[in-house]
Formats: sequence, structure tokens, C-alpha cells
Amino acid sequence: MILLDDSDFKTKLSNSLKTNRMGKSIIFFKELDSTQEYALSLPISKSIHGTIVMAIKQIMGKGRIGRTWISPEGGLWMSIILRPDFDVANIIFIQFIGALAVVNALKEITKIDCKLKWPNDVLINGKKVCGILVDVNLENEIKNIVMVMGIGLNANIDSSSINNLLINSSTKATTLREEVGTDIDLVYLIKSILEKIEYYYDNLLAKNKTSEIILRWKEKSNMFGKKVVVSYGNARIMGEVTDIDQSGALLIRLNDRSIKKIFYYSNVTFQ
Ligand code: BTN
Repeated sequence: MILLDDSDFKTKLSNSLKTNRMGKSIIFFKELDSTQEYALSLPISKSIHGTIVMAIKQIMGKGRIGRTWISPEGGLWMSIILRPDFDVANIIFIQFIGALAVVNALKEITKIDCKLKWPNDVLINGKKVCGILVDVNLENEIKNIVMVMGIGLNANIDSSSINNLLINSSTKATTLREEVGTDIDLVYLIKSILEKIEYYYDNLLAKNKTSEIILRWKEKSNMFGKKVVVSYGNARIMGEVTDIDQSGALLIRLNDRSIKKIFYYSNVTFQ
């Protein structure tokens, strides 16, 4: 765990950010096991809304459903502390706004039209470039809980260095370097993502406009009508994606025409 109190990166980011709360406090490491675990371990007094924990490189990056997230130098590995004043059941909307912010920031900076795969993957031409992981620190009270949104974006790296990502996932990985053909200024990228998260958070989430978040999410996804395989533990079902309901759950149509609701801890892959 190598903390960098004084880095050019941190200063550049602080100076360029035009947010009220996101990124106002930056905890920056050269090397860390996991920004997510670090953010979750902070005492409640230090868990201030908008604080970000970043690392140049993670040794034990954590993905969804207990997976490993390979995080070499050059990627964007960041966790954001959020203090939403709502029930933990709404966690999926935090995932949605994270993914939306990334898609819009990537469009702004690279002009690439990314697509969303439920609940949290950002894809370029069917390959995963970014994943969002939201954890809740349940030691605290139900309202004003501590949530941590982790963003892992394969930016200035080669996909060969993250090949392990493919061991337990059927979705192939890609990187911005490979898709854009050049490296991206990470300060500019993080600035854009944080500004968009703040926009969605303050304008939609805080005002409980969850249906608008769903609408915006759906506009950025091309999953609808596609055949998917859903697994949870040992259970496995197949069906066609029809919609997302008001709770943020994915709806799929099974062979017998019945509609099945899929919750966010399931794993969904295209058939
Ligand atoms: C996924 O499985 O799709 C989510 C991956 C989330 C990875 C990020 S990188 C920053 C933060 N720290 C971690 O250990 N994980 C998240």
C-alpha cells in the first residue's frame, strides 16, 4: 500500500474538476490491494460523500460475484464513496448511474458509442471495456448508508495484460488503447466521469426520478430482444431479454412464454 500524498495527477485532477462534491477529497495510491476494500474499510467519519480512492495499480482488484479484477498500471481503478439517503434496495440505480456516466464520458472523449449490458458492463463492439461494482457497508444504519461505487476501466493497457479476466467470464475484454488506437488522458477521463456521476446523482437519484434513469439506461443498451443465459449459483436459465422493470430488475421471456425477473447478483451472458 503506497500512498501518494503529493502527486501531479492528484493536483491536476483537483484543479480541473468542476464538481461540488464528487472528487473533492482524493485518496491516491501508487499501489493498493483494492480501492474498493480500502474505501469500504474507512471509518464512517471519513466516509464523506464524493470522496474518491484511486490507485495506479491494484494487486487484488475485486470484480462482481467474487471475481478477480486484473488491474495493471495504465487502467482507471477508482472507488467513489456515496452516502445516499435511500434504502439499500435501490443499489441497482447507483450501478446504472455509474455505467451511464462512463458511457457518456467515453462518447465525449473518444466519440465511441459504447453499449450497456445489464447490470453494469460497458461494452465496445460486444467486448467489455469497463465494469462497475457497488458495495454497501452494512455496519451502518439503513438510511444514509455508505455505498462504494467501484469503476474499473481498461484504459491505457493491452488486453493481453488482462487476459485472466476471461478465465471466469465469457465476455471478452477490450481496452481503450486498442479501440481508440492511442492513449487517453486519464485526468480528463476521470473529470468527465465524476462530473456526470454528480449530474445523475443530484438530478435524478436524489430527486427519486428512478424511471428516468431506467429510460436513459435503456437508450444505451442493445440487449433487448437478444437471447441470454442467466446463472446464479448452480441455477442456469435461458431466455430473451424483454425489458427492465421499475425496480431495475431485468425481465426475460422463457421458452414457455412466462416472464422471469432477474436480480442484480445474477450473471447474464449473451447466448
Ligand atoms: C465487474 O466485475 O464488472 C466490476 C469490476 C469493478 C472493478 C473496480 S476497479 C476499482 C474498484 N476496486 C476494486 O477492487 N474493484 C473495483
